[in-house]
Amino acid sequence: MVPAGVSQVTNAEFMGTGEAARRRFLRFLLQSPLLATPGLLGPARTLARPEFAVPGSLDEVLDVFQMQRVAQARLDPEAWHFIVNGADDQRTLEANRTAYDAWQMRVRRLVDVSAIDTGVEILGRKLATPILLAPAGAQQTIHVDGEPATMRGASERGHLMIVSTTSSSSVGEIRAAGSSPLWFQLYPSPDLGLMRHLLAGAEAAGCLAIAVTVDSPTRGNREGERWFSRISTRKAPPRMGNLEGYGGPPRIGDPALTWDSVDWLKANTRLPIVLKGIVTREDARLAVRRRVDGLIVSNHGGRQEESGRGTLECLPEVVAAVNGRIPVLIDGGIRRGTDIFKALALGADAVCIGRPYLFGLAAYGDKGVGKVLAILDAELQRSMQFAGTTSVAAIKPAFLQRRPG
Ligand SMILES: Cc1cc2nc3c(=O)[nH]c(=O)nc-3n(C[C@H](O)[C@H](O)[C@H](O)COP(=O)(O)O)c2cc1C
Repeated sequence: MVPAGVSQVTNAEFMGTGEAARRRFLRFLLQSPLLATPGLLGPARTLARPEFAVPGSLDEVLDVFQMQRVAQARLDPEAWHFIVNGADDQRTLEANRTAYDAWQMRVRRLVDVSAIDTGVEILGRKLATPILLAPAGAQQTIHVDGEPATMRGASERGHLMIVSTTSSSSVGEIRAAGSSPLWFQLYPSPDLGLMRHLLAGAEAAGCLAIAVTVDSPTRGNREGERWFSRISTRKAPPRMGNLEGYGGPPRIGDPALTWDSVDWLKANTRLPIVLKGIVTREDARLAVRRRVDGLIVSNHGGRQEESGRGTLECLPEVVAAVNGRIPVLIDGGIRRGTDIFKALALGADAVCIGRPYLFGLAAYGDKGVGKVLAILDAELQRSMQFAGTTSVAAIKPAFLQRRPG
């Protein structure tokens, strides 16, 4: 299916009718309402390509943007907007992407890059790839197989998966679906009993760390999501497996959260604590002082505060403040291997992706998740080869330059 707004233009028309027609087609695309909707199709330049049509099979999918088109074609508007929306006018969402365009590669030549090692070690655990799956709740609303399918896709190549507090399946069910290492994402709650319940579930499922989301004192104003939920055909609220069996109304999110809560968390779990959502040097310093074990530079994929900075713009000050004492990860806007390379060059120890694997899940279930991860692994490897780097440790700021102007 071709997205609404471009349906009357075929690939054949685009390909075969000479320069004038090509210009007409490009002008038409630039006027398309789709381009005025951030987050729908990715950067405009990806549209001006001959492979514009939506791929017809998993094998045809070449990149994350194509997977996104298949996902859009398959999802109902409510589920689609649940994935792609940012807050308000989506400036934070956009900034996450444009931050990557501000950097160009400074590559080195005549380096033996016949063998590439993408392995990293995070919190004492060796991982074959620095690409982790960011937590995303309610995945059964995206694909009937939900998080177990994501786990199966991640397990194809051993990508670490962070399970959301609000996952459809419980963390135990997700654990049983595959072999990839797991972290558990914790939404704080004023109900300490609920937090203990969630921490116990994570520990019992063999999670290696707790990623506490600290960017959600309230819910972001995602208007597309709100608009389409009005016409929802959903019969029941989405399942939340981790909250089942808890005897009380689950209160998710705590606007009264402070740094003292970190002390409580450290006293109530034996697992390392990672803070997800730190974007400033001030908070990075406080986190180190509170003996936090790791940070994820994140703005929730542009779904919370409006007019925020792109996470890549926040990364250098956080990395400098931490000064190697704890691992720093980043998520938000990563769609290409070059994006991952840039984040690693600016000091990230690893990256997390959110929407890209959700597009894969929506499009082809576990196989789609596996495909997205394989695409990004291959793109990262290619970027490393072009840059003349054979290991993640060798990827340094000297491989980047700010785009002039
Ligand atoms: C549909 C969806 C659901 C999400 N659910 C959660 C969640 O339950 N907990 C959380 O900490 N972050 C959640 N996030 C944010 C992601 O963990 C991550 O920060 C973000 O998706 C990264 O940006 P990207 O989508 O551009 O890769 C969600 C994101 C999306 C798109």
